[in-house]
Amino acid sequence: VSDPGALVVGGIGELVTNASDVPGDLAVLHDAAVAIEAGTVVWVGDETRLPGPYRGLPVLDVAGRAVVPGFVDAHTHVVFAGDRADEFARRLGGERYEDRLAAGGGILSTVAATRAAGEDELVAQAADRVERMLRAGTTTIEIKSGYGLDVETERRMLRVAHRLGHELPVDVVATFLGAHVVPAEYRDRRDAYVDLVCGPMMDACAPLAEFCDVFCDEAAFDVDESRRILEAGIAHGLRPRVHADQLSRVGAARLAAEVGAVAADHLDHVSDEDLAALAEAGTVAVFLPGVSLSMRAPYPDARRAWDAGVTVAIATDCNPGTAWMERMSFMVALAAIEMGLTPSQSLWAATRGGALALARPDRGRLMPGDRGDLVVLDAPSHLHIPYRPDTDLVGAVVAAGRVVGR
Ligand code: NIG
Ligand code: FE
Repeated sequence: VSDPGALVVGGIGELVTNASDVPGDLAVLHDAAVAIEAGTVVWVGDETRLPGPYRGLPVLDVAGRAVVPGFVDAHTHVVFAGDRADEFARRLGGERYEDRLAAGGGILSTVAATRAAGEDELVAQAADRVERMLRAGTTTIEIKSGYGLDVETERRMLRVAHRLGHELPVDVVATFLGAHVVPAEYRDRRDAYVDLVCGPMMDACAPLAEFCDVFCDEAAFDVDESRRILEAGIAHGLRPRVHADQLSRVGAARLAAEVGAVAADHLDHVSDEDLAALAEAGTVAVFLPGVSLSMRAPYPDARRAWDAGVTVAIATDCNPGTAWMERMSFMVALAAIEMGLTPSQSLWAATRGGALALARPDRGRLMPGDRGDLVVLDAPSHLHIPYRPDTDLVGAVVAAGRVVGR
C-alpha cells in the first residue's frame, strides 16, 4: 500500500545532503538511501541501516549513481510572450542592451507581446519552459511578473505563475516586479508610474505574490524610487529582493542591505563595502552566470562575495532578453568555471543557496523534515556536473517524493 509521495531512493553511490551549517559543505554520504513519506524526507543514512518501517516503501534503486538535492532556481522571468532573437543577434554585432531599451525595445518589446497575450497562451508557453526546467532537475522556481507594467497584465502574470505551480509538480514562488522599467506611456511621468506601482498595482498584486522586486539601475529605477517601492511592498506584506548594480554601481546593493532584502541579485558592480553590508544584513547574493554569457559581459567574482561572508546563490534569470537559459546544471558549470566558485560551492549555491535566497529553509538539502526533492545523476559524482557541462546528466527527478514524468 503506497501513499503518493512515499519512496525509498536506494543504491546511492554518492549522496549530497547539504546537511551542514557550513556553506559549501555538501555533507556527502556514500552507499546511502533516502526515505520519503507524504512528500517529506523522513530518513537519510547508510543504506544498510534503513529502519524496518521504511523497508516496505516503493524503491527507486539508482544503482550506484550520484544524487543531489533538487535545484532551487531563485530568479526567473519565465512568463513572457514572444522572443528577442533579433535583439540578441544585434547585440552580438555590437549593439548595447541599454541603447535598445532606451529606444523603446528590449524589455519594452516583451511588455508589448505579453500585454497582447491571453492568460491561457501565457500558461502554455511558460509551461513548456518550466517542464523542461523540471526535467532538468529544478524542483523549486521563483517566477517574477514585470512584463505587464499595468495593473491588469501584472496580475495576469502572477495568476499564470500560480497556475504553473498547480499544473506541474514544481513549487512556484511568485514575485511582484511592477518596477521592472518605466513603461512607454509613463516615460515623461516617472513619479506617476511609481505612484501606480506603490498604490493600485501593489494592492492588486500583493495577494498573489510573496516578494516585491525592483530593477534598481541606471536604465530603470533609482535608489530613492526603489526604496519607496520596496517599502510599499513591505507595508503590503511582501518581502524585498532587488535586481542590484547589474549595469552600473548605483548603490542598489547597499539599499538591499538597508531594507533587509532577502536577496540582492546580479551584483556585477559591487564594492567590498557593499559586500560587507550584504553579509552584515544577511542578504543572499544571487549570481546569474547565464546573463554574463549571453551579454558577453565580464563574469562577476562570486568567490569574492563568498569570501566576504555573504551567502551565495546562483540562478538562471531565464528571460527572453539577457539569458534564455533553463538548466541549473549549466549554471553550476559556469559558476565553477568562470566565477571562481569551487565545484562544491557552486552546487551548494544552486541548491541550498537558492533555498535561502527564497526563504525556504526546508529545501536545497536532504534532511528529515525537508521536502523530498532530489535529482539522480547519470554519473558517479556531482563533480561531473561542471566537468561535463554540455551533457544531460539528469537521470531522474523526484519532486515531493514522486518520480517526475512517471
Ligand atoms: O534580470 N535586468 C533586468 N531584468 C532582466 C532582463 C529582462 C529582459 O531583458 O527582458 C534581468 O536581466
Ligand atoms: Fe532578472
